[in-house]
Amino acid sequence: MINNLPKHIFRLLLLLSLFLLLALVAKIWLTDPSFYRYGHYRADAIPELAAGTPVYKGSAYCVGCHDKRAADWSSGAHVVVQCEVCHGPDRGCPENGKAMIPVDTIRLCTTCHLALPARPARQPQIVLGEHPFSDEETPECFTCHDPHSPSNEELLAKAGPTVLEPLTKLPVAASKCAKCHGKRGQGRNKTPALAGMEAAVFIEQMNNFKSGVSESKKMAKYAKRLSDEEIEELAGYYEGLPVSPSEEPLE
Ligand code: HEC
Ligand code: HEC
Ligand code: HEC
Ligand code: HEC
Ligand code: HEC
Repeated sequence: MINNLPKHIFRLLLLLSLFLLLALVAKIWLTDPSFYRYGHYRADAIPELAAGTPVYKGSAYCVGCHDKRAADWSSGAHVVVQCEVCHGPDRGCPENGKAMIPVDTIRLCTTCHLALPARPARQPQIVLGEHPFSDEETPECFTCHDPHSPSNEELLAKAGPTVLEPLTKLPVAASKCAKCHGKRGQGRNKTPALAGMEAAVFIEQMNNFKSGVSESKKMAKYAKRLSDEEIEELAGYYEGLPVSPSEEPLE
């Protein structure tokens, strides 16, 4: 019968059976022996994955060493948000480098709080450019909200005209300075305070950073980005801030 087949059909069948043979050999040789022991996956993958070191440790791990932040966190609305959601996975703080401090809070906070049509209404949401005041640029969220314990009631209780009015005048550039100089210019760790600094001195200092007369790796970058008008606005803002941290309305 084979002899009766036209030649080109015979070749086609030969090619097909060769392909099937190759596929069979590949299946036998390339499939892991543990495949399909329990189901359509490699059974050996389970112990392999289980032997890895976990990247995330969970908030209970952080709480032991960071009492103050943990206390704020556990009593506020963000107790449902794990530390590592905002701070990234544990890096072995403090020995192997500290955990990351989120700097771009606008990006971080809007991930969960930007108003979206599909977002459930029970999740508090804001519209950028309208919250809390209509403005082209929004200040960093942590200038007003405590990221560990954001509370509308507490903010509103404090937010009488004396608090909200100066905030409407908060220069947006100042929220970039806040991560080192403090939310209200009170200074932080080794970074000097700016609150109450005489405007003329402030302007001179900034121009010195800009021109390189005062050498500062940290400040040069920030000073160079500011126009003369912005520096003047910041000078007026910081001069008007209370010097004593105890007078600070939003800390
Ligand atoms: C064994 C104790 C310990 C544990 C556990 C621990 N930390 Fe820390 N952490 C420290 C110490 C000590 C510092 C350094 C404090 C300093 O420099 O002021 C630090 C620094 C930090 C900083 C930076 C502070 C700065 O000024 O740079 C952050 C943020 C932080 N930890 C978050 C976390 C988070 C999130 C976790 C959980 C994943 C965690 N820590 C677990 C002890 C710990
Ligand atoms: C919603 C996001 C968020 C969560 C959740 C969160 N943090 Fe933070 N954390 C921040 C931001 C933003 C900052 C920097 C601004 C500030 O200091 O207020 C910060 C600052 C810190 C600092 C101090 C860094 C410094 O300025 O020296 C520590 C320590 C810290 N967090 C620990 C924790 C621990 C521990 C937890 C869990 C119990 C936690 N955080 C949960 C956002 C968060
Ligand atoms: C100048 C101060 C200020 C800044 C900056 C600010 N907020 Fe607020 N925020 C407030 C005040 C005051 C309230 C409470 C009154 C209200 O509900 O509008 C509030 C309320 C909220 C609420 C609750 C809204 C609700 O419906 O319950 C969310 C969420 C919020 N802010 C997120 C943010 C985020 C995210 C940012 C950064 C992009 C930010 N805020 C920046 C002052 C501020
Ligand atoms: C991973 C998601 C997530 C991130 C990131 C996050 N939040 Fe929230 N936030 C929540 C949840 C969940 C609630 C609680 C809602 C509830 O009570 O049902 C909340 C509540 C709030 C509230 C309302 C508090 C009240 O009194 O009702 C404010 C204000 C707020 N967050 C501000 C912020 C700010 C500022 C940041 C950035 C530093 C931030 N959130 C980052 C999830 C998030
Ligand atoms: C990355 C951290 C960081 C940021 C962000 C930052 N600064 Fe500074 N600033 C410093 C440090 C640190 C010094 C002290 C000089 C030094 O050691 O380099 C300083 C010094 C200054 C001084 C001089 C104060 C004095 O008493 O001599 C002024 C004024 C100042 N900064 C203004 C600003 C302004 C305005 C912004 C925002 C546009 C800003 N800084 C942002 C870290 C920072």
